[in-house]
Amino acid sequence: MATIVATENLSKRYGKRTVVEDLNLYIPEGEIYGFLGPNGSGKSTTMKMLLSLVQPSSGGVEIMGKPMDRSTRREHLGRIGSLIESPPGYGHLTGRENMRIIQRLLGLNDQQIEFAIATVRMQGQMDKKVRNYSLGMKQRLGIAMALAREPKLLILDEPTNGLDPAGIEEMRELLRTLADGGVTVMVSSHLLGEIDKSATMLGILSQGRMIFQGTRDELFSAATPDVLIRCDDPSRASELLANSADCRVDQGEVRVTELSERATAGIIAALVSERIAIYEVRRDEQTLEQVFMGLTEGGGL
Ligand SMILES: Nc1ncnc2c1ncn2[C@@H]1O[C@H](COP(=O)(O)OP(=O)(O)OP(=O)(O)O)[C@@H](O)[C@H]1O
Ligand SMILES: [Mg+2]
Repeated sequence: MATIVATENLSKRYGKRTVVEDLNLYIPEGEIYGFLGPNGSGKSTTMKMLLSLVQPSSGGVEIMGKPMDRSTRREHLGRIGSLIESPPGYGHLTGRENMRIIQRLLGLNDQQIEFAIATVRMQGQMDKKVRNYSLGMKQRLGIAMALAREPKLLILDEPTNGLDPAGIEEMRELLRTLADGGVTVMVSSHLLGEIDKSATMLGILSQGRMIFQGTRDELFSAATPDVLIRCDDPSRASELLANSADCRVDQGEVRVTELSERATAGIIAALVSERIAIYEVRRDEQTLEQVFMGLTEGGGL
Protein backbone atom coordinates (compact mmCIF):
# COMPACT_ATOMS: atom_id res chain seq x y z
CA MET A 1 0.00 0.00 0.00
CA ALA A 2 1.42 3.37 -1.02
CA THR A 3 2.13 6.01 1.59
CA ILE A 4 0.33 9.29 0.96
CA VAL A 5 1.76 11.35 3.83
CA ALA A 6 4.91 10.75 5.84
CA THR A 7 6.69 13.22 8.08
CA GLU A 8 10.10 12.86 9.63
CA ASN A 9 10.70 14.47 13.00
CA LEU A 10 8.47 17.34 11.97
CA SER A 11 8.69 20.18 14.49
CA LYS A 12 7.46 23.74 14.86
CA ARG A 13 8.71 26.27 17.36
CA TYR A 14 7.32 29.73 17.98
CA GLY A 15 10.01 31.62 19.85
CA LYS A 16 11.09 29.31 22.64
CA ARG A 17 7.86 27.34 22.58
CA THR A 18 7.74 24.03 20.77
CA VAL A 19 4.16 23.51 19.58
CA VAL A 20 4.80 20.45 17.39
CA GLU A 21 7.61 18.10 18.34
CA ASP A 22 9.29 15.32 16.35
CA LEU A 23 6.18 14.11 14.59
CA ASN A 24 6.53 10.94 12.53
CA LEU A 25 3.15 10.87 10.95
CA TYR A 26 2.26 8.12 8.51
CA ILE A 27 -0.89 7.91 6.38
CA PRO A 28 -1.25 4.95 4.01
CA GLU A 29 -3.38 5.31 0.88
CA GLY A 30 -7.13 4.85 1.26
CA GLU A 31 -7.30 5.40 5.03
CA ILE A 32 -9.49 7.81 6.96
CA TYR A 33 -6.88 9.16 9.35
CA GLY A 34 -8.47 10.64 12.48
CA PHE A 35 -6.09 13.28 13.84
CA LEU A 36 -7.19 13.80 17.43
CA GLY A 37 -6.03 15.92 20.32
CA PRO A 38 -7.26 18.56 22.75
CA ASN A 39 -7.38 22.29 21.96
CA GLY A 40 -3.92 23.70 21.40
CA SER A 41 -2.23 20.30 20.93
CA GLY A 42 -0.89 21.29 17.49
CA LYS A 43 -3.34 19.76 14.99
CA SER A 44 -3.90 22.86 12.84
CA THR A 45 -0.20 23.75 12.90
CA THR A 46 0.67 20.23 11.70
CA MET A 47 -1.92 20.31 8.93
CA LYS A 48 -0.65 23.72 7.80
CA MET A 49 2.89 22.31 7.65
CA LEU A 50 1.64 19.40 5.50
CA LEU A 51 0.17 21.97 3.13
CA SER A 52 3.26 24.15 3.26
CA LEU A 53 1.22 27.05 4.69
CA VAL A 54 3.51 27.09 7.72
CA GLN A 55 7.25 26.48 7.43
CA PRO A 56 8.53 23.68 9.71
CA SER A 57 11.30 24.66 12.17
CA SER A 58 12.91 21.27 11.56
CA GLY A 59 12.07 17.91 10.02
CA GLY A 60 10.32 17.28 6.74
CA VAL A 61 7.13 16.33 4.94
CA GLU A 62 6.77 13.83 2.10
CA ILE A 63 3.59 13.68 0.08
CA MET A 64 3.13 10.66 -2.19
CA GLY A 65 6.82 9.82 -1.87
CA LYS A 66 8.12 13.26 -2.82
CA PRO A 67 9.32 15.96 -0.42
CA MET A 68 7.04 18.93 0.04
CA ASP A 69 9.12 22.05 -0.52
CA ARG A 70 9.01 25.28 -2.49
CA SER A 71 9.83 23.55 -5.76
CA THR A 72 7.21 20.77 -5.44
CA ARG A 73 4.52 22.73 -3.62
CA ARG A 74 2.47 23.66 -6.70
CA GLU A 75 2.46 20.13 -8.07
CA HIS A 76 1.48 18.68 -4.68
CA LEU A 77 -1.26 21.19 -3.97
CA GLY A 78 -2.92 20.30 -7.28
CA ARG A 79 -3.55 16.85 -5.80
CA ILE A 80 -4.53 17.87 -2.26
CA GLY A 81 -7.88 19.31 -1.27
CA SER A 82 -8.06 21.07 2.07
CA LEU A 83 -10.37 22.78 4.48
CA ILE A 84 -8.45 24.54 7.25
CA GLU A 85 -10.17 26.30 10.14
CA SER A 86 -13.26 28.25 8.98
CA PRO A 87 -15.01 27.12 5.78
CA PRO A 88 -14.12 29.11 2.63
CA GLY A 89 -16.57 30.74 0.21
CA TYR A 90 -17.89 34.25 -0.35
CA GLY A 91 -21.05 34.90 1.67
CA HIS A 92 -22.57 37.38 -0.79
CA LEU A 93 -22.36 34.84 -3.62
CA THR A 94 -24.41 31.69 -4.13
CA GLY A 95 -22.96 28.22 -3.71
CA ARG A 96 -22.90 27.81 -7.48
CA GLU A 97 -21.10 31.12 -8.02
CA ASN A 98 -18.49 30.06 -5.49
CA MET A 99 -18.04 26.74 -7.28
CA ARG A 100 -17.67 28.61 -10.58
CA ILE A 101 -14.79 30.62 -9.13
CA ILE A 102 -13.02 27.39 -8.16
CA GLN A 103 -13.77 25.96 -11.61
CA ARG A 104 -12.14 28.92 -13.39
CA LEU A 105 -9.25 29.13 -10.96
CA LEU A 106 -8.31 25.49 -11.39
CA GLY A 107 -9.50 25.00 -14.97
CA LEU A 108 -11.96 22.24 -14.09
CA ASN A 109 -14.72 20.83 -16.28
CA ASP A 110 -18.48 20.86 -15.52
CA GLN A 111 -18.56 17.17 -14.60
CA GLN A 112 -15.93 17.66 -11.90
CA ILE A 113 -17.98 20.47 -10.38
CA GLU A 114 -21.27 18.55 -10.54
CA PHE A 115 -19.66 15.43 -9.09
CA ALA A 116 -18.27 17.39 -6.13
CA ILE A 117 -21.66 19.03 -5.46
CA ALA A 118 -23.45 15.66 -5.67
CA THR A 119 -20.93 13.97 -3.36
CA VAL A 120 -21.65 16.45 -0.56
CA ARG A 121 -25.38 16.29 -1.39
CA MET A 122 -25.79 20.02 -1.96
CA GLN A 123 -27.59 19.90 -5.34
CA GLY A 124 -30.70 21.55 -3.91
CA GLN A 125 -28.82 24.40 -2.20
CA MET A 126 -26.62 25.82 -4.92
CA ASP A 127 -28.72 28.87 -5.77
CA LYS A 128 -28.83 30.19 -2.19
CA LYS A 129 -26.38 32.80 -0.95
CA VAL A 130 -23.66 31.23 1.20
CA ARG A 131 -24.32 33.69 4.07
CA ASN A 132 -27.76 32.10 4.41
CA TYR A 133 -26.32 28.59 4.69
CA SER A 134 -26.28 26.68 7.98
CA LEU A 135 -22.82 25.86 9.34
CA GLY A 136 -23.17 22.26 8.15
CA MET A 137 -24.02 23.48 4.62
CA LYS A 138 -21.01 25.83 4.66
CA GLN A 139 -18.75 22.94 5.68
CA ARG A 140 -20.18 20.76 2.91
CA LEU A 141 -19.69 23.50 0.30
CA GLY A 142 -16.11 23.89 1.57
CA ILE A 143 -15.56 20.18 1.06
CA ALA A 144 -17.10 20.37 -2.45
CA MET A 145 -14.65 23.20 -3.24
CA ALA A 146 -11.78 21.02 -2.00
CA LEU A 147 -13.08 17.94 -3.80
CA ALA A 148 -13.69 19.39 -7.26
CA ARG A 149 -10.05 19.04 -8.31
CA GLU A 150 -10.34 15.28 -7.67
CA PRO A 151 -7.61 15.20 -5.04
CA LYS A 152 -5.75 12.08 -3.94
CA LEU A 153 -5.68 13.50 -0.43
CA LEU A 154 -8.18 15.59 1.50
CA ILE A 155 -7.06 17.43 4.64
CA LEU A 156 -10.02 18.56 6.74
CA ASP A 157 -9.41 20.56 9.91
CA GLU A 158 -12.30 20.11 12.37
CA PRO A 159 -15.10 19.76 9.78
CA THR A 160 -17.49 18.71 12.59
CA ASN A 161 -16.76 21.81 14.70
CA GLY A 162 -20.03 23.45 15.77
CA LEU A 163 -22.27 20.89 14.07
CA ASP A 164 -25.23 19.31 15.85
CA PRO A 165 -25.36 15.51 16.31
CA ALA A 166 -27.24 14.99 13.02
CA GLY A 167 -24.70 17.18 11.19
CA ILE A 168 -21.84 15.22 12.76
CA GLU A 169 -23.37 11.93 11.66
CA GLU A 170 -23.80 13.31 8.11
CA MET A 171 -20.14 14.37 8.13
CA ARG A 172 -19.07 10.87 9.23
CA GLU A 173 -21.10 9.39 6.39
CA LEU A 174 -19.55 11.82 3.94
CA LEU A 175 -16.05 10.81 5.08
CA ARG A 176 -16.92 7.18 4.40
CA THR A 177 -18.32 8.06 0.95
CA LEU A 178 -15.09 9.92 0.14
CA ALA A 179 -12.93 7.01 1.28
CA ASP A 180 -15.05 4.56 -0.73
CA GLY A 181 -14.38 6.80 -3.74
CA GLY A 182 -10.64 6.24 -3.27
CA VAL A 183 -9.66 9.52 -1.58
CA THR A 184 -7.32 9.37 1.41
CA VAL A 185 -8.77 11.59 4.12
CA MET A 186 -7.03 13.21 7.07
CA VAL A 187 -9.55 14.72 9.45
CA SER A 188 -8.92 16.42 12.79
CA SER A 189 -11.06 16.90 15.87
CA HIS A 190 -10.52 18.09 19.42
CA LEU A 191 -13.43 15.90 20.51
CA LEU A 192 -11.88 12.49 20.75
CA GLY A 193 -15.06 10.49 20.25
CA GLU A 194 -16.41 12.51 17.38
CA ILE A 195 -14.76 10.89 14.39
CA ASP A 196 -13.08 7.86 15.85
CA LYS A 197 -15.81 5.52 14.63
CA SER A 198 -15.42 6.45 10.98
CA ALA A 199 -11.61 6.66 11.16
CA THR A 200 -9.67 3.59 10.05
CA MET A 201 -6.48 4.91 11.61
CA LEU A 202 -5.89 7.27 14.51
CA GLY A 203 -3.12 9.69 15.36
CA ILE A 204 -3.43 11.20 18.83
CA LEU A 205 -1.59 14.39 19.75
CA SER A 206 -0.96 15.71 23.23
CA GLN A 207 1.02 18.91 23.72
CA GLY A 208 2.57 18.72 20.28
CA ARG A 209 3.66 15.08 20.57
CA MET A 210 2.16 12.01 18.96
CA ILE A 211 1.19 9.77 21.85
CA PHE A 212 -0.45 7.11 19.71
CA GLN A 213 -0.65 6.20 16.02
CA GLY A 214 -2.33 3.07 14.74
CA THR A 215 -5.73 1.41 14.41
CA ARG A 216 -8.53 1.74 16.95
CA ASP A 217 -8.08 -1.92 17.95
CA GLU A 218 -4.37 -1.39 18.56
CA LEU A 219 -5.18 1.60 20.75
CA PHE A 220 -7.70 -0.26 22.84
CA SER A 221 -5.48 -3.34 23.16
CA ALA A 222 -2.86 -1.15 24.86
CA ALA A 223 -5.35 -0.32 27.59
CA THR A 224 -6.67 -2.43 30.48
CA PRO A 225 -10.37 -1.81 31.01
CA ASP A 226 -11.80 -2.07 34.55
CA VAL A 227 -13.27 -5.39 35.72
CA LEU A 228 -16.83 -5.19 37.06
CA ILE A 229 -18.10 -7.84 39.47
CA ARG A 230 -21.79 -8.23 40.26
CA CYS A 231 -22.28 -10.28 43.43
CA ASP A 232 -24.50 -10.76 46.50
CA ASP A 233 -22.38 -8.59 48.85
CA PRO A 234 -20.36 -5.91 47.03
CA SER A 235 -19.21 -4.12 50.23
CA ARG A 236 -17.75 -7.27 51.79
CA ALA A 237 -16.25 -8.32 48.44
CA SER A 238 -14.60 -4.91 48.10
CA GLU A 239 -13.17 -5.12 51.64
CA LEU A 240 -11.83 -8.62 50.99
CA LEU A 241 -10.03 -7.42 47.85
CA ALA A 242 -8.80 -4.11 49.26
CA ASN A 243 -5.32 -5.41 50.09
CA SER A 244 -4.65 -7.11 46.78
CA ALA A 245 -6.36 -4.85 44.22
CA ASP A 246 -7.40 -1.26 43.50
CA CYS A 247 -11.16 -1.54 43.93
CA ARG A 248 -14.33 0.24 45.03
CA VAL A 249 -18.07 -0.24 45.02
CA ASP A 250 -19.62 1.49 42.02
CA GLN A 251 -23.41 1.41 41.43
CA GLY A 252 -23.88 -1.82 43.34
CA GLU A 253 -20.94 -3.55 41.66
CA VAL A 254 -17.28 -3.98 42.57
CA ARG A 255 -15.07 -2.05 40.15
CA VAL A 256 -11.42 -3.18 39.97
CA THR A 257 -8.87 -1.21 37.96
CA GLU A 258 -5.68 -2.26 36.16
CA LEU A 259 -6.30 -5.96 36.56
CA SER A 260 -4.49 -8.47 34.33
CA GLU A 261 -6.24 -11.68 33.24
CA ARG A 262 -4.21 -13.77 35.68
CA ALA A 263 -5.01 -11.40 38.58
CA THR A 264 -8.71 -11.50 37.62
CA ALA A 265 -8.72 -15.30 37.96
CA GLY A 266 -7.00 -14.89 41.36
CA ILE A 267 -9.54 -12.49 42.83
CA ILE A 268 -12.51 -14.52 41.59
CA ALA A 269 -11.07 -17.62 43.31
CA ALA A 270 -10.52 -15.58 46.50
CA LEU A 271 -14.12 -14.31 46.49
CA VAL A 272 -15.55 -17.77 45.85
CA SER A 273 -13.51 -19.23 48.71
CA GLU A 274 -15.03 -16.54 50.98
CA ARG A 275 -18.49 -17.72 49.86
CA ILE A 276 -19.35 -14.57 47.93
CA ALA A 277 -21.97 -15.49 45.30
CA ILE A 278 -20.74 -14.11 41.95
CA TYR A 279 -23.45 -13.40 39.40
CA GLU A 280 -21.39 -11.76 36.66
CA VAL A 281 -17.81 -10.68 35.88
CA ARG A 282 -17.14 -8.46 32.85
CA ARG A 283 -14.74 -5.88 31.45
CA ASP A 284 -16.11 -2.34 31.30
CA GLU A 285 -16.52 -0.73 27.88
CA GLN A 286 -13.94 2.02 27.50
CA THR A 287 -14.45 5.23 25.66
CA LEU A 288 -11.69 6.80 23.62
CA GLU A 289 -11.54 9.59 26.23
CA GLN A 290 -10.75 7.07 28.99
CA VAL A 291 -8.05 5.41 26.90
CA PHE A 292 -6.63 8.84 26.10
CA MET A 293 -6.59 9.85 29.77
CA GLY A 294 -4.80 6.58 30.54
CA LEU A 295 -2.17 7.33 27.90
CA THR A 296 -1.51 10.88 29.02
CA GLU A 297 -1.41 10.03 32.74
CA GLY A 298 1.23 7.45 31.96
CA GLY A 299 3.26 10.06 30.09
CA GLY A 300 2.19 8.68 26.70
CA LEU A 301 3.33 5.63 24.77
N1 LIG B 1 1.36 31.82 14.66
C1 LIG B 1 1.52 31.40 15.93
N2 LIG B 1 2.33 32.04 16.79
C2 LIG B 1 2.50 31.62 18.06
N3 LIG B 1 1.89 30.54 18.58
C3 LIG B 1 1.07 29.86 17.78
C4 LIG B 1 0.83 30.23 16.41
N4 LIG B 1 -0.04 29.35 15.86
C5 LIG B 1 -0.33 28.45 16.84
N5 LIG B 1 0.32 28.76 17.98
C6 LIG B 1 0.26 27.99 19.25
O1 LIG B 1 0.55 26.64 18.97
C7 LIG B 1 -0.23 25.77 19.76
C8 LIG B 1 -0.93 24.77 18.87
O2 LIG B 1 -1.91 25.45 18.11
P1 LIG B 1 -2.82 24.73 17.04
O3 LIG B 1 -3.73 25.76 16.47
O4 LIG B 1 -1.97 23.97 16.09
O5 LIG B 1 -3.61 23.68 17.95
P2 LIG B 1 -4.91 22.82 17.60
O6 LIG B 1 -4.61 21.44 18.06
O7 LIG B 1 -5.29 23.02 16.18
O8 LIG B 1 -6.00 23.45 18.58
P3 LIG B 1 -7.58 23.64 18.38
O9 LIG B 1 -8.23 22.33 18.77
O10 LIG B 1 -7.91 24.72 19.37
O11 LIG B 1 -7.85 24.03 16.97
C9 LIG B 1 -1.17 26.64 20.55
O12 LIG B 1 -0.68 26.78 21.86
C10 LIG B 1 -1.14 27.97 19.83
O13 LIG B 1 -1.35 29.02 20.71
MG1 LIG C 1 -7.01 23.75 15.27
